[in-house]
Amino acid sequence: MASTLVSVIGGRPAQGTAAGTVSSVNPSRLADVVAEVTLADAATFAAACAAAKRAQPSWADVPAPVRGRAAGAIGRIVEANKESLARLVTRELGKPYAEALGEVQEIIDTCDFFLGEGRRLYGQTVPSEMPDKQLFTFRVPVGAVAVLTAGNFPVAVPSWYLIPALVAGNTVVWKPAEYAAASAMALFRLIQAAGLPDGVLNIVFADGEESFAGLEAGLQDGTIDKIGFTGSTAVGSRIGELAGRHLQTPCLELGGKNPMVVTPSADIELAVEGALFSGFGTAGQRCTSLGTLIVHESVHDEFIGRLSAAVSAAAIGDPAQDVLYGPMLAQKFADQFEEYLGWIQPHHEILGSTGTGRISSANPRAGFVGDPADGIFYHPVIVDRVRSGDALFLAETFGPIVGVTSYASLQDAIELANAPGYGLSSCIYTSDPGEVFQFRRGISAGMISVNNSTSGAEAHLPFGGNGKSGNGSRQSGVWVLDQFTRWQSMNWDYSGRLQKAQMDVAELAADLGFRLGT
Ligand code: UN1
Repeated sequence: MASTLVSVIGGRPAQGTAAGTVSSVNPSRLADVVAEVTLADAATFAAACAAAKRAQPSWADVPAPVRGRAAGAIGRIVEANKESLARLVTRELGKPYAEALGEVQEIIDTCDFFLGEGRRLYGQTVPSEMPDKQLFTFRVPVGAVAVLTAGNFPVAVPSWYLIPALVAGNTVVWKPAEYAAASAMALFRLIQAAGLPDGVLNIVFADGEESFAGLEAGLQDGTIDKIGFTGSTAVGSRIGELAGRHLQTPCLELGGKNPMVVTPSADIELAVEGALFSGFGTAGQRCTSLGTLIVHESVHDEFIGRLSAAVSAAAIGDPAQDVLYGPMLAQKFADQFEEYLGWIQPHHEILGSTGTGRISSANPRAGFVGDPADGIFYHPVIVDRVRSGDALFLAETFGPIVGVTSYASLQDAIELANAPGYGLSSCIYTSDPGEVFQFRRGISAGMISVNNSTSGAEAHLPFGGNGKSGNGSRQSGVWVLDQFTRWQSMNWDYSGRLQKAQMDVAELAADLGFRLGT
């Protein structure tokens, strides 16, 4: 039975004009409608921002350790509901169940971290240049935060925003992806169960254009103090432009064209395993998914032979079973993927499956798990002989497709890795420490794995990218606190006099001409 979902603002179901409805459909079983979603219009979005803004001062008055304990409680509540939330993620987004469990674990890890952070929102005491005066710093919440998230990580990535924002004393309006609405609503309910006051966390279901107009209105009204956005580079740059006009810096987590460099000293078996998971896990629909394999010419043939065999043998299909990947997240990603497949050119060599395009009885995949007619399943594609001018080399291709090119010197490999202008994740397979550090220095990515996949960030290490992948903002761990707090400095003069900085400062009589002599 499909539930009907409506936005929740200030603790109550949203009133006002609905901007239509959409169905959130199980992509591995299209007959299964997971939820009917009532979409809000821009005015409703803006009303949610106003509610968050009103609720913020009293939430900021709740002592930070108490807010941290709320994060702890959310972690325990999510843990107690781990399997049911993971099952819903598998049903709504088609993520294999084992990965869905990992995704839910990432929320728990985030909550575990921020439980302690509530007791550690440290400021500093700083010496003054004058006597009887003390300097201090405080972390203060930014205010009301609008968070817009994608559906490929429908609950983990949102938690990277929501949990630290709340612990730091902000209130939040969360707009999840419409095609992930049921998973989002489940997380919202689990968070609410921790006892947050009404208006501290609000959820708004809306399409892209209404949300954008709602952001514009909220910024204009002064009810949005920060935007967090995970999604495409194109939308990220629109949001960055809008926020910039209001003198704000959004937290942007955008696309990637994540490279994997395979060097002559690599453990080839390990690199094959890494490429399989990086390229095709979640059907290549992670922002950290492998984009291009850059393989040393001396190991190219062996590596590609083994990777092609591994991809051909991989189990693909019903995400409730033990598969490498399931369906596309939703129809719009299949439509986009068809476009990327159109970028394949005659000079390319295609490997990895018994066909390309949508898997069906007419275009079968050997060993498919389940019935491909039930959902939106695509063949995995390895595209060898990709050239640096190809669209397939230059742009993100969200979906189960990986390009391959070869290199002669590590410097060339680094230049190829950086050329598309993204800079999210990257990895190198090597047993040479010199190569590791040469790669680290040269790569433009915010994240580097050595002998590990491009995906698989841990919840307490900075996550984020550069260039087309983001504006340098970082999520996770202590680093995300710079997104959700601002430094406030205070000086306190208890001398009873007006002491002027730089002017009333004592100086010791130094003999700067002093030399040791011979
Ligand atoms: C994303 O795709 O938006 O490292 C985030 C990973 C996951 C997070 C990906 N832990 O792939």
